[in-house]
Amino acid sequence: MAVLPPFDMVLFGGTGDLVTRKLLPALYRRCAAGQVPSDARIIGVARTALSRAKYLERAEVACREFLGGEFDPQHWATFASLLDYVKVDAAATADYADLAAALAGRESRVRVFFFSTSSDLFAVICDNLARQNLVTPESRVVLEKPLGHDTVSADRINAAVASVFRERQIYRIDHYLGKEAVQNLMALRFGNALFEPLWRRGLVRHVQITVAEELGVERRGSFYDKTGALRDMVQNHLLQLLCILAMEPPATSDPDAVRDEKLKVLRALRPIHGEAVLQKTVRGQYKAGAVRGVPVPGYLEEADIAPDSTTETFVALKVEIDSWRWAGVPFYLRTGKRLQDRLTEVVVTFAEVPHPIFEHPPAAHTANELVIRLQPDECITMTILAKNPGEGMRLKPVSLALDLGETFKERSLDAYERLLMDTVKGNLTLFMRRDELDAAWRWIDPIIAGWEQCDDRPKIYTAGTWGPAASSALIGRDGFGWRGEE
Ligand code: BG6
Repeated sequence: MAVLPPFDMVLFGGTGDLVTRKLLPALYRRCAAGQVPSDARIIGVARTALSRAKYLERAEVACREFLGGEFDPQHWATFASLLDYVKVDAAATADYADLAAALAGRESRVRVFFFSTSSDLFAVICDNLARQNLVTPESRVVLEKPLGHDTVSADRINAAVASVFRERQIYRIDHYLGKEAVQNLMALRFGNALFEPLWRRGLVRHVQITVAEELGVERRGSFYDKTGALRDMVQNHLLQLLCILAMEPPATSDPDAVRDEKLKVLRALRPIHGEAVLQKTVRGQYKAGAVRGVPVPGYLEEADIAPDSTTETFVALKVEIDSWRWAGVPFYLRTGKRLQDRLTEVVVTFAEVPHPIFEHPPAAHTANELVIRLQPDECITMTILAKNPGEGMRLKPVSLALDLGETFKERSLDAYERLLMDTVKGNLTLFMRRDELDAAWRWIDPIIAGWEQCDDRPKIYTAGTWGPAASSALIGRDGFGWRGEE
């Protein structure tokens, strides 16, 4: 792995959840792997007044916790020597002078500003960076999701960022795109000739995307209660997965070639509005239950949640893509917190044989399925029908399974490791372009409006289950079932 060019990385929201839980451990790992040059600087920035020593203490606690057995005191010492802290209140113009002082004389280096704050602050941070002349030609800005809460707010934020950074300097992050397994989806589709002829209406009957979490809202109650599962997960992660599954083969792997194709999918999504939300979407909210035998509180009992909150912690949708390739093929999407398992999985169900010639076809599962499991383990399974040993032609579904972890035996990069390094290298392929984000919000907005218009309150589900019964009914109405539930 090539060592990166010298860089300075400024982490706004430097004491927050994402920086401590994900970004610092990811940077530590790249540093331990020898990829980060010894003169790189990583500057945590937040409004709390902290000395560098105190910040390092906090960072060490976080790295020990989140890296577990991987933490090594020697590697930590090397990594800690790159870390610094500057107190900056995002809206306090005077504070940016301290940041400017920390970056002085380093204008020719790659400079990455990572905004891991609420997106309401992106405009004021950009404005202050510009006032202090901190945005150099080699600067990039990384914008953490969710960017805005609807089309209008996202557009306003994008415009403010665009007044300071050029589009080629803007990295809108969706960490799902950085996952090894998501890259493998691309490899599967575009590295093999095998699937392409099957990847269309007529041969694909339906597609399911599940992103299920066991975790609840953790320490992010006040953020989550304003956001909900549709904005937190569907607007970005699930739609991006859908794009990679449904897009046309790009002509090259060039960032814009890939992003152009994803954009076409987003623009071809059939809108869901008005009363259609009642047929095509399900909102849920968990009540107290048990996850893996451990009792957990309900959503309304979590910290920082309004006692009468109607925010959804689960959503299931039936999505249609109006294109030649996908007309008539339903895509079912579901995601939720406090579900039975942590599972991210894509299931492509193919058409059944047009005419059965065997006497004893199995009663169920007669269609071939391609299951791409992204989390917790990475594996690709194809179910095919084979003959049961013995007399007669009795068919039985069996699996051709490829366990990618077993096959490659190498630790794959965590999404943030890959994406942070991409920002330094200047590779935009795995980041969303402004028009993609806009198209995603334009599709999401009417669903939220429809929920409000129809006063569609979330259906209550018990923590530790697969969500409300209405989610099974949504897919069941079309004669299908969620995998594992049929
Ligand atoms: C984040 C969401 O983007 O993704 C969280 O804000 C969610 O609510 C997380 O828990 C899930 O990511 P992963 O990588 O654990 O599947």
